[in-house]
Amino acid sequence: MVCLAQWRDSTSRGGSYDRMSSVAATALNLNDHLAGATAGSETTQSLIAGILYAMTQYPDQGAALLADPELATGAVEETLRWWTPVNSMARQATTDVELRGKTIHAGENVLLAYGSANRDEEEWGDDADEWDILRPSAKSHLAFGFAEHFCLGASLARREARIVLSELLTRFPNYELTGDTTRVRQHMTPGIKTMPVVFRR
Ligand code: HEM
Repeated sequence: MVCLAQWRDSTSRGGSYDRMSSVAATALNLNDHLAGATAGSETTQSLIAGILYAMTQYPDQGAALLADPELATGAVEETLRWWTPVNSMARQATTDVELRGKTIHAGENVLLAYGSANRDEEEWGDDADEWDILRPSAKSHLAFGFAEHFCLGASLARREARIVLSELLTRFPNYELTGDTTRVRQHMTPGIKTMPVVFRR
């Protein structure tokens, strides 16, 4: 939107923007704005829904979490690992890289499969596929990526999830799934499409 306004300003003042460059610039700018605006929305919703879903699949741990809100921090970290709201992202190698005996050449595309890494038995052990809110190493998951591009909103997302979880479960400690849960068929952010739930006080 900002870009469209700039383009209108520029052309009305006789600026040199041609139509194609303005369309390209608008697309790039909108992409940035949309990425900024949606980065933390779908992902955090997915995380919170994932915790509620996990509690129904692991009722003993769900009950423990209801009884002791202090467990929320572990539950959020373990759900980030087990659920991994952002399943993957693509990158392009800028230099040749040697990884486990394979060479990734400069210019090649690479898929960062966070979801797979977060269930890697070499890292998490034989129970990698299980949701365990007491897992001591849960926080070393890669759900927020790593290094220079580590998620800018990680602290906010963690805090949001803990607050929503504690408020929701305090007000509505009894909830149940009343139908099938379906996922969005999308590789990058396969969130929840439908999850009918009834909350009771
Ligand atoms: C559960 C919630 C979230 C998850 C799972 C998540 C996950 C991710 C992942 C995997 C990346 C890419 C990291 C990489 O390239 O290595 C990322 C980047 C980013 N995230 Fe999040 N995110 C979440 C919430 C948020 C929130 C709440 C915000 C902002 C309010 C946010 C803003 C960003 C931004 C700006 C980047 C780009 C950082 C960069 O490239 O330097 N995210 N996020």
